[in-house]
Amino acid sequence: MCGIVAYVGHREACPLILKGLRRLEYRGYDSAGLALLNGDGLKIYKKKGKVSDLEQELSGKDLHATIGIGHTRWATHGAPNDVNSHPHYSNDRRLAIIHNGIIENYATIKQNLVRKGHEFRSETDSEVLIQFIENIRKETGCSLEEAVRLALQEVVGAYAIVVISADDPTQLIAARKGSPLVIGVGDDEYFFASDATPIIEYTKDVVYLNDYEIAVVRDGALRIITLENAQTTPYIQKVELELEAIEKGGFDHFMMKEIFEQPRSIADSMRGRVRAEDGHLQLGGLRDYLDQLAASKRIVIVGCGTSWHAGLVAEYIFEELARIPVEVEYASEFRYRNPIIQERDIVIAISQSGETADTLAAIELAKSKGATIFGVCNVVGSSIARATHAGAYTHAGPEIGVASTKAFTAQVTVLTLMALAAALRAGTISDTLFRQLLAELERIPALVEKVLQDAEKVKEISYIFTYAKNFIYLGRGLNFPVALEGALKLKEISYIHAEGYPAAEMKHGPIALIDEDMPVVVIATKDSSYEKIVSNIQEVKARKGRVIAVVTEGDTLLPGMVDFVIEIPKVHEILVPLISVIPLQLLSYYIAVMRGRNVDQPRNLAKSVTVE
Ligand code: F6R
Repeated sequence: MCGIVAYVGHREACPLILKGLRRLEYRGYDSAGLALLNGDGLKIYKKKGKVSDLEQELSGKDLHATIGIGHTRWATHGAPNDVNSHPHYSNDRRLAIIHNGIIENYATIKQNLVRKGHEFRSETDSEVLIQFIENIRKETGCSLEEAVRLALQEVVGAYAIVVISADDPTQLIAARKGSPLVIGVGDDEYFFASDATPIIEYTKDVVYLNDYEIAVVRDGALRIITLENAQTTPYIQKVELELEAIEKGGFDHFMMKEIFEQPRSIADSMRGRVRAEDGHLQLGGLRDYLDQLAASKRIVIVGCGTSWHAGLVAEYIFEELARIPVEVEYASEFRYRNPIIQERDIVIAISQSGETADTLAAIELAKSKGATIFGVCNVVGSSIARATHAGAYTHAGPEIGVASTKAFTAQVTVLTLMALAAALRAGTISDTLFRQLLAELERIPALVEKVLQDAEKVKEISYIFTYAKNFIYLGRGLNFPVALEGALKLKEISYIHAEGYPAAEMKHGPIALIDEDMPVVVIATKDSSYEKIVSNIQEVKARKGRVIAVVTEGDTLLPGMVDFVIEIPKVHEILVPLISVIPLQLLSYYIAVMRGRNVDQPRNLAKSVTVE
């Protein structure tokens, strides 16, 4: 969703901000803009479309400035157009703001301002906020910092903001509640951004702003105060992120790079945690909570999208190995029910970005009911990681492609480790099975590599189905969530309508859709439900559906029965999703590329969904 980049220091602000906005493009946006302050005053430039459209708009202009704010907007209030893009001026054009999030009570504030003679150029809640700040400053004669603080005390909703003033070329004021904001601390220079990716090229020293904090940079110094006006000491930490990790590294798209990174990212998610040869498994972030997890009466898993699918896989694994009942909930549904949380219930929140608004709200609700919350997040230091009692990072590295790939396999890996640790502690798993699964987990990166070596075969199949209008994905057991994930990947990046179903459910409705124009992807690996899914495939074939089957190497039955076969290596049934999802990621990638889609930034989607 919206991205923030701001700078004050001694460098040229404009190219730095534009580069930073490009680094945030992966978050999803529909317009871009920046404000620069120099001897000619405070000037805003903004444009609907991509950062490249903004760059065209800027060409030939004198953009020299060493302070500025920039923004990529994902429309919420008001259509994506030039006027609604950020930054927004105050009425007198002496202030400008960039804002991520939603000001829920903006309409009431706006009405009051209109009564006082304020005029609004855009339909956005963000313009209301800057005019509100301006109004407080004028009415009370207070400093800008104080006006920001007083305004934010009145605001209901979520925000990350940066404010610039024509009156002080050394000053930027930023604040956050519910939307992320990172401050890079350099030599006599400061960077503000929605995540660390635009900053790491210049400094690895960062401060993660907390909710209800306001950061003020003035005359080369950084101060942080709370909304209650208490001073806090900025906590500077080193960000462990290298530039190569956020570049394409020779691949055409981030998504492809990330699919091919999975042997490494899965290994990284186990690094230092698993040593099969001596049966060692340790998750540092769970150490003090493992007894509680093992003795829990019920686990509730919350997440959205792909993370929710990882949760569905984990449901099977926790129930099978640790014998703890599991419920998997969409965070967006959980937060608006009155969910029953009992003593000894554990909530596991899964999120790649660690910023998903619905998941964060679900955590807060569960916490308020006394639950212990475990987090499975990828982004270190993210809001969700900080809101949980315990947890394990997935260590997949930055995921830039909007469609989640390596984050999913890393989530499933870490959740499997959590289930194994809980099972061992609870005494519900035999030592033999425990060691066998650890040994098989250690082989997974090499097996994923093997599947990736067959990418060309998936590409050929993709070519045949490039212009399909619909797809059905079927799986049973642990492969049912993989079917859901395969369908989600295809629809979000190729815009082909796709549905995932448990294979046996087909006869209760979706079978009506099957004809010779309906491609059906079936994950039919050799596991406990193999015979059943073979029957389901026969039902599809009897209705002339075209079947692409993901099968276990050496299967001699299915190649003679279906239209196309993709082989994957044999692994223990519990671990199959880590392998079976790979060809489905490739299939959607190739189809989307062949259809000419923007796979890394599909329309309407955002990488980090910070609004509900
Ligand atoms: C799908 C996808 C989304 C996310 C969802 C949750 O490819 O990326 O469905 O999985 O928005 O995001 P996180 O995991 O960041 O909470």
